[in-house]
Amino acid sequence: MNELLLARALHVLGVVVWIGGVFMATVVVLPAVRRGALGTDKLAAFHAVESRFVWIARAAVIVVGLSGFYMIEKLDLWPRFALIEFWWMHAMLGVWAIFMLLLFVGEPFVLHRFFPAWARRDPQRAFAFLHGVHVFLLVISLITILGAVAGAHGWSW
Ligand code: HEM
Repeated sequence: MNELLLARALHVLGVVVWIGGVFMATVVVLPAVRRGALGTDKLAAFHAVESRFVWIARAAVIVVGLSGFYMIEKLDLWPRFALIEFWWMHAMLGVWAIFMLLLFVGEPFVLHRFFPAWARRDPQRAFAFLHGVHVFLLVISLITILGAVAGAHGWSW
């Protein structure tokens, strides 16, 4: 029982660190980078923040995934995936899978390879795109958190 409570606590802690960072990047850092408040070299300003947070986000995503699957297995929650009222379970898995892909594949192979050239050629558009992607990720993450907390505590849809 205590193991389950620990898993739940680690799960929420991981979500707080990870999505909190995405929130900060989306509503504070990227707007500042876009308007040049962190220097004229927007790419360098963005990388200074991103290169540090990406490792924190990777660790948090792994903790959230491990603790999440542990809870599913221990509580035998697999049948929930067949029921639409547990859409928030699908949402958690979906958000997690998207971030896994972005952090472990997209960041090293796309962001580092193709984005710098685009950002130097057309910084306005490149950073508007990057910001748009962050807004989308933040919105689906926040909807998932709302659904998961309400759903896990008995809200029935
Ligand atoms: C592999 C991915 C994930 C798995 C397997 C997973 C699994 C779970 C499980 C089994 C629960 C407990 C449900 C219950 O007690 O009825 C839970 C709770 C929760 N999860 Fe996830 N989850 C995952 C990813 C995420 C993500 C990406 C988020 C946020 C964006 C998230 C946010 C939450 C929240 C806020 C709760 C409710 C905690 C509470 O109030 O007790 N999870 N998750």
